[in-house]
Amino acid sequence: MARGTGLTNAPGVWDWDALVQDDRVHRLLYTDPAIFDAEMSSVFGGTWTYVAHESQIPSNNDFITTRLGLRPIIVLRDRDGVTRALFNRCTHRGATVCRQAQGSARVFQCAYHGWTFFNTGELSGVPWPDGYATDLKDEQYNLAQVPRLETYRGFIFATLNAGAVPLTEHLGPMTEIIDQWLDRHPGGRVKLCEANRLKYKGNWKLAYDNAADGYHVKFSHRSLLEMENRLKEGDEKGMSFYKDAPDEAPMYVQYLGNGNHFKDKRPNVEDRPGALWDIEGAHPGMEHFESSIRQRLGDRAEIALDLAASEPVNINIFPNLLILGNHIQVLQPQAVDETDSTWYGTAVIDEEDTLEGAVEEVNTLRMRTMESFPNFGEVDDATNFEEIQRGLAAEEDPWVYMHRGLGIPGRVKTDDRGLITAPATDEVFMRETYRYYKELMADPPTLEIRRAP
Ligand code: FES
Ligand SMILES: [Fe+2]
Repeated sequence: MARGTGLTNAPGVWDWDALVQDDRVHRLLYTDPAIFDAEMSSVFGGTWTYVAHESQIPSNNDFITTRLGLRPIIVLRDRDGVTRALFNRCTHRGATVCRQAQGSARVFQCAYHGWTFFNTGELSGVPWPDGYATDLKDEQYNLAQVPRLETYRGFIFATLNAGAVPLTEHLGPMTEIIDQWLDRHPGGRVKLCEANRLKYKGNWKLAYDNAADGYHVKFSHRSLLEMENRLKEGDEKGMSFYKDAPDEAPMYVQYLGNGNHFKDKRPNVEDRPGALWDIEGAHPGMEHFESSIRQRLGDRAEIALDLAASEPVNINIFPNLLILGNHIQVLQPQAVDETDSTWYGTAVIDEEDTLEGAVEEVNTLRMRTMESFPNFGEVDDATNFEEIQRGLAAEEDPWVYMHRGLGIPGRVKTDDRGLITAPATDEVFMRETYRYYKELMADPPTLEIRRAP
């Protein structure tokens, strides 16, 4: 029998039109391990999925280990500088060949029987090769690798779907939103910093459903809102856009296709230097860095402080990359009811010294902003996700509603490019994402790997 390389999902066994309706989705999407398994092919790997940022592998031979769905992978820059995503799975008997989170390596030696692979994926050698009658140069013994890897402005995405459109086409209008987020930084780049590694006992989609949700903020994050405003005069902190009736504020939610959405709170912010810094959450200990920046830069300090402050946006790239404020949150499913949620800080790179030596202080403040929403808000959200997962154990009450804004004339607007805009509390972003999700799940793609280096 020929040994094919094409991997195809089992034929669909679910009635997707019944599970995903215009106004609601069925609890099985969050609780059924078989649906979760199908997602690991149809979504994670079947569409473009974020795997790493290029600042994590700046030099040849640098690597990080991560996952594409459940598949362990090593994202690296090989000895010649080519970016690759190797399966972290020995071709001998399946052990992972790299067990470190990050590092630099020209070869990976499996700890089980010592098979060794170049960082191109090619098998370099095995202990006592005389014991093999087969040709170990045969490609089948090279590490598998993700056949398609593309980068948009530092964000590296992977797919196993040979038929996927190019990444920029897939991201479409989302590229403009990413451009805006990056272009306020010197050189139009940021560098990922160390991470807060969090985990919740709930389905991965609960976090994605929440990523552009402006409806929960005033209720779920009340203590954070109150704390931020207690720490500084007035009640003008970023989260306070949601106080009173959030739909009356000029912020909005937008759906940009292919599961991607955007919450834009910038229209609330005054257009003047220092306005962003004024709404940033204040935490004890930041004052020293702020005054050092003011001393060093004088009149230009507000520009640097605005760079230390979080951009009031949520940029959500399906299925797992959430850019929010100065932070990047990455979702990694572990099981139908368990998800890793990793928050990375980002640092400014100031090669031209536009900040006149203040880049360290700016980056220190950016790290301190991790103590605002990522530490005090994420726990509120994760608690909701876990409580939803508990609630959805009730089998006889299966529906999850997402119909806020549906059917109200004039409330949800579609422009000539097909971009959908709605008030900040509408669930249109969720309805549209599930429409896309249903397409992916109902028509499983053919997935492929590559063995040639
Ligand atoms: S499993 Fe890797 S060398 Fe045996
Ligand atoms: Fe939240």
